[in-house]
Amino acid sequence: MNHLEVKINELVDKYYSNLLEIRRHLHMYPELSNQEYKTTNFINQELDKANIQRLSLNCQTGTAAEIKGLDGPTVALRADIDALPIQEESDLPFRSVIDGISHMCGHDVHTTIALGVGFVLQELKHLLPGTVRLIFQPAEESEGGAESMIAEGLLNDVKAIIGLHNMPDLPVGTIGVKEGFLMASVDDFTIKIKGKGGHAALPEKAVDPIVIGSSVVSLLQTLVSRTISPKESAVITVGAFQAGNTHNVIPEFAVLKGTVRTSNESVRMQIHEKFETMVQNLVHSLGGEVEIDYQLLVPTVFNHSKITSVVREAAILTVGTDHVVTAESTMGGEDFSFYQQKVPGCYLWLGSGNKEKGITYGWHHPKFMVDEEAIKVGVKLMVQSVFKLLKDKTI
Ligand code: NI
Repeated sequence: MNHLEVKINELVDKYYSNLLEIRRHLHMYPELSNQEYKTTNFINQELDKANIQRLSLNCQTGTAAEIKGLDGPTVALRADIDALPIQEESDLPFRSVIDGISHMCGHDVHTTIALGVGFVLQELKHLLPGTVRLIFQPAEESEGGAESMIAEGLLNDVKAIIGLHNMPDLPVGTIGVKEGFLMASVDDFTIKIKGKGGHAALPEKAVDPIVIGSSVVSLLQTLVSRTISPKESAVITVGAFQAGNTHNVIPEFAVLKGTVRTSNESVRMQIHEKFETMVQNLVHSLGGEVEIDYQLLVPTVFNHSKITSVVREAAILTVGTDHVVTAESTMGGEDFSFYQQKVPGCYLWLGSGNKEKGITYGWHHPKFMVDEEAIKVGVKLMVQSVFKLLKDKTI
């Protein structure tokens, strides 16, 4: 172990009990997306206590800070701070005290890790070959959180950005890293089909939107299987089909709602381009009219190869080669992708599960938990990563 590693480990140990208090406070007082007022205040107080330079922002919730070391480039670390509308089911002494709201995605842990990185770097400023910007982002669970931080100019002069998510499927002490595709793009659609209502026994005098809607559902499955290469992943799910309300009436309207997930931006655009024309043509050919609302929401999380290889080195230093695995990708979405569209970045999985302690439940489950040892691993990993990224002249 070199001098820097020893120093980092000592500092993480020094701050660990403080970080546990911070995490437990955040866990007890969760706030929903765009309502993270107390959370933002609390983070700001912790930054001030550690004499970490805050950046002044215009946004209502969310905050950012900077640790300026020696002359050099800037890298950013992003943590999300919001909670979910879920009633926590737990006996933990620090369980959520807010009815119906809880940190069942572990963003309290992400926030704590980013603060921990700040505390450690503040003491290693004299060795830090550049600047580290900490971004505490609101509203990851809803919409607009990442965009609001980018609009504040927080990516200006940033050469790389990193972020992590706890991963209950991986045991604590394990880190999952993967180049390229990690998380899916998320787009939603609403299709409103207008037919012609009438008597159920006289279909020749009506245009049945339920029959048309059923054809649209089948068509959408074909859209994936017949226009996207089998080597790519995409999924279209119709999650709602609403029409009519009784046995003997052909209704006037049918409404379909669904989501489109893809593994890369070109597949995403291919589907978007074909979707409207194919649906319109089909509905018109069956005598109906159609309105389509297609919302491009979140791009794919796609990890930059060079940044990822540097982060992998940091992961190996932190937990050893045997505990660094290839991250499994998921068709879930994450707005970290908005930052990656602006600057090269890497998002990774921080193992947080522990079967012996019963910490096995997945994200958004009312019994979801994180093994707090993951905080230590996360801080060390992120501190090592920023040092390596700042030093690397090829990025
Ligand atoms: Ni999350």
